[in-house]
Amino acid sequence: MQVLQNDTFLKALMRQPTDYTPVWMMRQAGRYLPEYKATRKDAGSFMDLCKNAQFATDVTLQPLDRYPLLDAAILFSDILTIPDAMGLGLSFEAGEGPRFKRTLQQEADIKKLVVPDMAELQYVFNAVTTIRSALNGRVPLIGFSGSPWTLATYMVEGKGGTDFLTIKKMAYARPDLLHHILETTAQTVIQYLNAQIDAGAQAVMIFDSWGGALSHNAYIEFSLNYMKKIIASLTKTADGRQVPCVMFTKGGALWLEAQAASGADALGLDWTVDIGQARSRIGDKVALQGNLDPAVLLSTPEAIEKEVANILASYGHGNGHVFNLGHGITQWTPPENAGAMIDAVRKYSKQYHT
Ligand code: CP3
Repeated sequence: MQVLQNDTFLKALMRQPTDYTPVWMMRQAGRYLPEYKATRKDAGSFMDLCKNAQFATDVTLQPLDRYPLLDAAILFSDILTIPDAMGLGLSFEAGEGPRFKRTLQQEADIKKLVVPDMAELQYVFNAVTTIRSALNGRVPLIGFSGSPWTLATYMVEGKGGTDFLTIKKMAYARPDLLHHILETTAQTVIQYLNAQIDAGAQAVMIFDSWGGALSHNAYIEFSLNYMKKIIASLTKTADGRQVPCVMFTKGGALWLEAQAASGADALGLDWTVDIGQARSRIGDKVALQGNLDPAVLLSTPEAIEKEVANILASYGHGNGHVFNLGHGITQWTPPENAGAMIDAVRKYSKQYHT
């Protein structure tokens, strides 16, 4: 077993003292990096990149090689591996985002949905093991999954980012059918994340990218309750260390108090909330991860420094902050601007850890 040389990220998630605020970026391996685009071209398609452990390892390590101050690596994969393994026929059309050949709208199709054999997802666990060994203890590796609600939006609608009218109609007219999808998906996510932990993931994150589209009551019933159930069934320690869990509902800052009681160790925040106010609302019960607007990275190094300093000052003194973007980095980000953000976090955060 390799010795972990930088555990700042894991310590911050557990709200333990660190010398500075650790940082990583959602989608840190991606199209804003020319080296990513080159590897993706070699792989042929996005799913071929995910399914080949060596390619997945190469792209996971690219941002770490470019930015030596990053404090965590994230498995290179996608949340849509689960619906793909459930047989829905995933494809990525150039410039259009993910699409599914089959959707779950008919009662008969929904009732046939079962937890897939984890062997269908073995390529993900192989990538985790290969990445862990290539990291050789440099920084911790994050595993991840989509939330049942977010995965269900893709499975029912067939694509993302819609107005969610088909799945919301189901939620109100046939909640039994939606609960069957969510329960089956939650059981799948539990097995999937625990297999990632077995393979070497040192922290896990649940992406609830579309939770913010729900009403208050619907969020609790259709999204939060299933994430709670998952968290309660996760493996809590590996290699003698705790495996912290981050829960991220994009657009979910209205519900931070309920999220803080979910069993998650940390909550991801998007940029709509002031992180200092979020901290006082949750009373240091959990760590917070976030929350720079990714659009800031399209500006200038001076503007980026200023926004980074503001977030650090708003969080204030003490432990329990992991710096991140409020959502994935955009493909139009100049790579040197991401570097300016990472450097600024180190430069301005030490004063809050004395
Ligand atoms: O963060 C990382 O570096 C790890 C890799 C990662 C990807 N997707 C790679 C990816 C992670 C953690 C994800 C999660 C993911 N995927 C989410 C949750 C986070 C979020 O953004 O809200 C969602 C909703 C998806 C679904 C998905 N995958 C979409 C909507 C798209 C297309 C849109 C886009 O940004 O291109 C993808 C494709 C995808 N996943 C790419 C990458 C690097 C781009 C594919 C390409 O190379 O063409």
